[in-house]
Amino acid sequence: MRKISVIGAGNVGGLCAMRLLENGLGEIILVDVALNLAQAKALDLEDARYALGSNYQITATDDFSRISGSDIAIITAGLARKPGMKREELLAKNAQILRAVAANLKKSAPDAICIVVTNPVDVMTYLCIKELNTDRRRVFGMGINLDASRFANLISKRINQDILNIKAAVLGAHGEEMLPLSRLARVGNRPLNSFVSGSELKQIEGETVLRGAQIVNLYGSGSAYFAPSAAILQMVKAVLNDSDEICGASILLEGEYGISGACLGVPVKLGKGGIKEIIKLDLNKDELSALQKSAEAVKELCMTLQ
Ligand code: LAC
Repeated sequence: MRKISVIGAGNVGGLCAMRLLENGLGEIILVDVALNLAQAKALDLEDARYALGSNYQITATDDFSRISGSDIAIITAGLARKPGMKREELLAKNAQILRAVAANLKKSAPDAICIVVTNPVDVMTYLCIKELNTDRRRVFGMGINLDASRFANLISKRINQDILNIKAAVLGAHGEEMLPLSRLARVGNRPLNSFVSGSELKQIEGETVLRGAQIVNLYGSGSAYFAPSAAILQMVKAVLNDSDEICGASILLEGEYGISGACLGVPVKLGKGGIKEIIKLDLNKDELSALQKSAEAVKELCMTLQ
C-alpha cells in the first residue's frame, strides 16, 4: 500500500488530499500543527469514501512520526498571499515553517520523494534540498506546472479551441519573472502564433503571469487551490505510476541552461525515484537570457536564507 503524506491541511493541502483519495492513490496522512483543522478535513474526506466507493484510509495528525514510511510527502504548509502581496513576501515566515518541516522529514521519512508547494516555491525547494541534504532528483517544487495549466487555459479561451489540443509550457521562477513560452506553444500541430497576433500573445502571457494574483484578489483572503491541487496530482501520479511524463518542476539546476545554485522551473521527466531526466529545450537567446534573469532573482532570495 502506498503512503502519501500531505503536510499542511489548508486549502491546497485539503484539496490535494481529496484528489488523492478520489484517484485511489494510497493511504493519506494529513499533517498540521492545527490538529482540529486536519481532523475536520480528514473526517469529512473519510465520510466521502462510501459515496466514492473508495476504501483508502485517511489519518489526521500533528505528530510527524506518523509520516514514517511515506512514499511521497507533499509540503503545502505555510502562509498564503493576501491581496497586493507578492509570493516573495512570504519568504521569512515560510522559511521558518519549512525548516521545521524538513527537520521532521529527515527524522521520520528520509526516503520520501518531496513535492514542495509552499511559496515562494523556488526558494522553498532550494531550502528543502539544503536542509534535507539529499539528492536533487528527490525534492522538487510545484509551480510552473500550475502556470502551464493556466497558460493553456487562457490560450484555449482566447482562440476558442479545445484545451486538450493545446500544448503549453512555462519556464523559470513561479513569480512575476516566469516565462510563458509562446514561441513553443502548439494548437494541434500548429504554432500558437499562427492563431494570434504578437500583441495578443503578449496579453495572454501577461494574464498568465498575473493569474494567481487575480484569484487572490477575488478571494480577498487566501490563494488558488483547485488548479494547484490538480497540478500536484499530475506530479504524484507521474511518480507513482513511473510514467515518465514531462512536467514543469522547480529543480536545483547544476549547469543546465547555464544556471547553477538556484531552483528554477524547467521541464523534467518524472517517474520512480522522482526526476528521471531534465529536458533541455532549444531556447533562443532572448528566452535563455530571460530564464537566467529569473534565476538571478531566485538566487538573491536564496542568499537571504543564510
Ligand atoms: C498560485 C499560488 C499557488 O499561483 O502560488 O496560485
